[in-house]
Amino acid sequence: MKILVTGGAGFIGSNFIHYWLKNHPNDEIFNLDKLTYAGNLKNLEDLQGSPNYHFVLGDITNVDIVRDMVRKCDLIVHFAAESHVDRSIIDAGEFIRTNVLGTQMLLQAAKDFDKRIHHISTDEVFGSLDLDSKEKFNEKTPYDPKNPYSASKAGSDHLVRAFYDTYGISMTISNASNNFGPYQFPEKFIPLAITNLLEGKKVPVYGDGLHVRDWLYVEDHCRAIDLILNQGEIGETYCIGGSTQDVNNLTVVKKIIEILGTDESAIEFVKDRPSHDRRYAIDWTKAKEKLGYEPQADFDQYLKQTVEWYKNNQSWWQEIKSGTYQEYYQKQYGG
Ligand code: NAD
Ligand code: TYD
Repeated sequence: MKILVTGGAGFIGSNFIHYWLKNHPNDEIFNLDKLTYAGNLKNLEDLQGSPNYHFVLGDITNVDIVRDMVRKCDLIVHFAAESHVDRSIIDAGEFIRTNVLGTQMLLQAAKDFDKRIHHISTDEVFGSLDLDSKEKFNEKTPYDPKNPYSASKAGSDHLVRAFYDTYGISMTISNASNNFGPYQFPEKFIPLAITNLLEGKKVPVYGDGLHVRDWLYVEDHCRAIDLILNQGEIGETYCIGGSTQDVNNLTVVKKIIEILGTDESAIEFVKDRPSHDRRYAIDWTKAKEKLGYEPQADFDQYLKQTVEWYKNNQSWWQEIKSGTYQEYYQKQYGG
């Protein structure tokens, strides 16, 4: 099978490509990525020259490239997006362009060439849960996005479903919670905290630090996508979450500090993010019952593994933090 992966040079996309080729070595992957600040070919360095992996530099809003790639492939797994909430608050433009317009380009091509598309989305489209409620998001939760990033992802989800309802395209959607693990850009909370602590810097904690995320290890997410691609029902949405719920941001930093053996004086409370969602939690019963999905370890074990990875791969994140990582592809692609 030939799979078009969009955004495969980013965090989840590169983990997915590694996961997929390990578990499906006879498939061929075409990675279409624009290499924005978040795309890093070092994430896939070990696959360079491999006969079943191909990198294609391109933008998902470029209709010619998109149509050419969709035509050549059997299946699309769509990760490409602007993904950082804080950046969307500063400037929403690229979020609308890539996340909404780019998704529409892929959908149009999927429709025209009759190809299946799996759309990777987020639980952030459902908005915010109260800290003291026991409520969780599920596939029937109404959409209620509260920042430009989640609004742009909600827009893309609605388009995917509208293309299914209107034209009967072959699609599935997954709404996953916050991922963490190897190759995550260190602007996101967990890698930012780990790398700042390794550098002896402070960890900025927004507001009171009591915001809760449903942490999902990236490999569990990749396994869930595999299950959806192989056993998921066309036209369905699946919510994917992690093993540990109701861990707040302050607790996450304290756990990382404990693993690293540093001290809590590194925690610095800073001004809160505007419209900061208080709590996310996912009820992944449907994925469990229909697909047999289940996280394979608990949060503490995965967090230890993740801290270990950042300790052992310091040049990977140091190049990002110093900005030199983009020279690597500029040399190859003149970007
Ligand atoms: P990321 O920011 O690490 O990577 C995004 C990738 O997309 C980068 O390689 C970037 O170069 C590429 N890209 C951006 N704009 C593009 C364009 N116009 N054309 C082609 N490529 C483009 O993101 P991530 O954290 O890996 O997230 C991947 C997907 O998963 C996104 O759709 C995101 O909304 C979704 N998601 C993320 C999380 C999370 O916690 N990170 C959770 C749930 C869902
Ligand atoms: P983030 O990784 O940006 O993911 P998202 O906003 O998509 O959930 O943030 C995770 C949580 O950590 C969120 O509640 C915001 C908080 N946060 C901080 O407290 N400090 C930071 O420096 C960052 C980046 C996030």
